[in-house]
Amino acid sequence: MAVLEMKDNVFWVGAVDWGLRDFHGYSLARNGTTYNAFLVFDEKTTLFDTVSSRLSEEFFGNIQEIIDPTRIDYLVVNHVEPDHSGCLVEAVNLIRPEKIFCTTMGKQFMISHYHHEDWPYAVVKTGDWISLGEKTVYFIELRMLHWPDNMGCYIKEDKLFLSSDAFGHNWATSERFDDQVDFREIRAHLANYFANIILPYSDNVLQALGKIEELEWDIDMIAPDHGLIFRSHVNEVIEAYKEFAQQKAKAKAVIIYDTMWKSTEKMALAIAEGLIKEDISVKVFHMKSCHHSDVMAEVLDAQAVLMGSPTHNRGVLPYVAAMLRYMEGLRPQGKIAAAFGSYGWQRDSIKNLTETLERMNMEVVGSIRVQNVPTAEDLNECVALGKRVAETIKEKQDRWSKR
Ligand code: FEO
Repeated sequence: MAVLEMKDNVFWVGAVDWGLRDFHGYSLARNGTTYNAFLVFDEKTTLFDTVSSRLSEEFFGNIQEIIDPTRIDYLVVNHVEPDHSGCLVEAVNLIRPEKIFCTTMGKQFMISHYHHEDWPYAVVKTGDWISLGEKTVYFIELRMLHWPDNMGCYIKEDKLFLSSDAFGHNWATSERFDDQVDFREIRAHLANYFANIILPYSDNVLQALGKIEELEWDIDMIAPDHGLIFRSHVNEVIEAYKEFAQQKAKAKAVIIYDTMWKSTEKMALAIAEGLIKEDISVKVFHMKSCHHSDVMAEVLDAQAVLMGSPTHNRGVLPYVAAMLRYMEGLRPQGKIAAAFGSYGWQRDSIKNLTETLERMNMEVVGSIRVQNVPTAEDLNECVALGKRVAETIKEKQDRWSKR
């Protein structure tokens, strides 16, 4: 992908990973991703971040297109996760930087990843700044967005915030700026990334946004390490992040289930019918044919999560168990829930589902179990459960709107 001058003497030198689907070993990047890295020309020419080792040729090719790498003075490592530091060893060997700016945890992580105690680390913290010559770089620690080492950089003269993983989204594109694509599509990718990567750290997000506000930085461009660069929707992307982190729910329910002989599936669809009759937006996921990342993207703004599984070996079916474990780790807040499923002779799935949902601090407002195959009456009960959940969703929504 071509190098791009995004501000005066600030160049995008990242790489587009069109073929990536497995993001970090647990999340699905359905549309690939980008690794954004930036080169700033000044008296001290500085490279901000590298890219995944998958794309080292493209990355170094981009740099060489505009500068002899040995003329770079500083490196800034905003995050050590290998999607951004995958070319770091090669970069250090090539550039021989005077200094490598990073947080305390950044230094620790670089040493434990790459085992070079002798690199010229320069540890910085929130509020520290350096002059590159004409440009000034202010640092802000972005702890847990998404690892403890993350930091962001504000280049004052350019009103540019390099935000690392914050505001990142997985989307491989030929375009580099937010106004070259549909912002609604960016928002969907942003929500997906947040739901699968950042959600457990929602409190840290709100703290970081508060800190940025307090610092009164005049920002007219936000450049995350993944996805599009924001120059026309700066306020919108900050507002979207705030909304995700506050975990504001909509009048929406997500039904997640697996089934053996379709009894639990019939129950899922009857429950959906009850919700739909009450004008609740519903998403239904059969876990055998869905990816947990797609499910979490819908859970993010749903008020209710309804989990279904038949009893299997005194527990739940494996895809449902995996989904529950994945969701539990991401710690969604403020949800209501319900459990449903069929059974043959042991009745454990509802107990298992309810206990797990409650452990996630979800308010379980109902459950239903059916022996073997549901009758018409059983399915009416399922519709009634859907309606009951819908009523609770509406009550919660009323409370949200009065806040
Ligand atoms: Fe984009 Fe936490 O790495």
